[in-house]
Amino acid sequence: MSHSTAGIPEDSIEIDLDPKNWEEFRQLGERMLADMLEYQASQRERPTWTALPEGLRESFLGPVPHHGEGAARAYEDFRRRVLPYATGNAHPRYWGWVRGSGTPLGMLADMLAAGMNSNLTGQSQAPVLVEKQVVDWFKDLFGFPGGASGLLLTGGSVANLNALAVARNAKAGYDIREEGLQGPRLRIYASTAAHTSIRRAVEILGLGRRSLCLVPTNDKQQMDPVQLQAMIKSDQGQGMRPICVVGTAGTTDVGAIDDLQLLAEISSRHGLWFHVDGAFGALLALSPKHRQLVAGMERADSLAFDLHKWMCLPYEIGGLLVRSEVEHRETFALSAPYLEAIEGGAAVDEVAYRDYGIQLSRGFRALKAWLSIKAEGIDKFARIIEQNITQASRLEALIRAEPELEVMAPVGLNIVCFRFRAKNLQDADLNELNKDLLVKIQESGVALPSSTRLAGQFCLRVAITNHRTRLSDMDRLVTEVLRVGRYLLARSCL
Ligand SMILES: Cc1ncc(COP(=O)(O)O)c(C=O)c1O
Repeated sequence: MSHSTAGIPEDSIEIDLDPKNWEEFRQLGERMLADMLEYQASQRERPTWTALPEGLRESFLGPVPHHGEGAARAYEDFRRRVLPYATGNAHPRYWGWVRGSGTPLGMLADMLAAGMNSNLTGQSQAPVLVEKQVVDWFKDLFGFPGGASGLLLTGGSVANLNALAVARNAKAGYDIREEGLQGPRLRIYASTAAHTSIRRAVEILGLGRRSLCLVPTNDKQQMDPVQLQAMIKSDQGQGMRPICVVGTAGTTDVGAIDDLQLLAEISSRHGLWFHVDGAFGALLALSPKHRQLVAGMERADSLAFDLHKWMCLPYEIGGLLVRSEVEHRETFALSAPYLEAIEGGAAVDEVAYRDYGIQLSRGFRALKAWLSIKAEGIDKFARIIEQNITQASRLEALIRAEPELEVMAPVGLNIVCFRFRAKNLQDADLNELNKDLLVKIQESGVALPSSTRLAGQFCLRVAITNHRTRLSDMDRLVTEVLRVGRYLLARSCL
């Protein structure tokens, strides 16, 4: 082997990760695309969910491959072992937790974004302008001022974390970035029905769980404003420092919306930060029919929202708006010599997104929102939200018409909690029966509700954030629940 002066063998072959044969690769790509479009188009014909078959788990235990098998074989393996065993949320009768169903255009947009592989840290590039435009659209839709800041994130949990970081720094009364946590205990108020991501955020931010004050809810699962004020007063009396009220627009369990006007009033009266967790409920602002439900949200200091839930865009995409651009930036911004912007060069920021969150490198998730809103128009998304609410009330009516079924919480939005019942059964037996029922329904592949417990009572929970659901799917679910419930009841001889 001959060597150059730099010690590199002259006859060595330099390698890269591009295909050796572009034509073959193009054919594989076309096949992948055709397969995934077919997968999307034929959702209704497949089971909602398929349990992992025996041996599948073990098949993922192999060691790291040191030599590649080629893209075609790896793809075949994906088709065989991964694709059929997904969560199922692309299916029209998937209503578990709060999961969006994804869209074909969103899927293609993610491919385009990955193809460009832009890093949206900031700098001088059109993708940053795309994100800025999407954020501007949502500022407008949610009634936030033009000077507010915002960015797209991975989802509601991260948006809540970012928002509470800003709230903590803005309201602590001293320089937390410099000093770390000092002095009196800071207090954040959220209802007992608030999402767990609020608790996680409080813990991660170093405030300690005792800084989160969970305010009881009324019979509609809304934060009780009288108790909130009493708790703020009592905390102040004990030398603690209240800093933030978290309102929820759409609680996870039942879709309740706090009285956001009132919470905005109370926060402002006490000089507190007002954050709204609107992971899915914020999107109600798109609908002229339902926007009243979230009135007051536009007064928030910060607002978390998701686009992978009720806008059905593929995971992951959520967003955060912060009324005060300065307070937002001051929580995260840092400079470094390697980030210096030199006039006229590539490093000059259109928006320095890295200064508004914890990520330095950021993906082009904005593209799927931008393309989808341009292609469909925002009104179409509003109509889908309205359609899901109509479907939930249809389900409620069907349940109320069946003596063997029971609605377990008021249905205000898109979430229906219910259970199968039998006259002679006590709550403990009903809980067991309904657990079995849920598993059987999920395993049947007909539909996929999830569950919750309301006042200790186990319920089936249908949360419709799905553009593929049709009214007739509600009838199908009720028929199946009755069939399986009766079967289980007869089998158990209870
Ligand atoms: C009210 C609420 N907030 C926050 C979240 C968390 O959102 P994500 O799953 O996008 O992190 C959820 C998820 O269901 C939610 O319902």
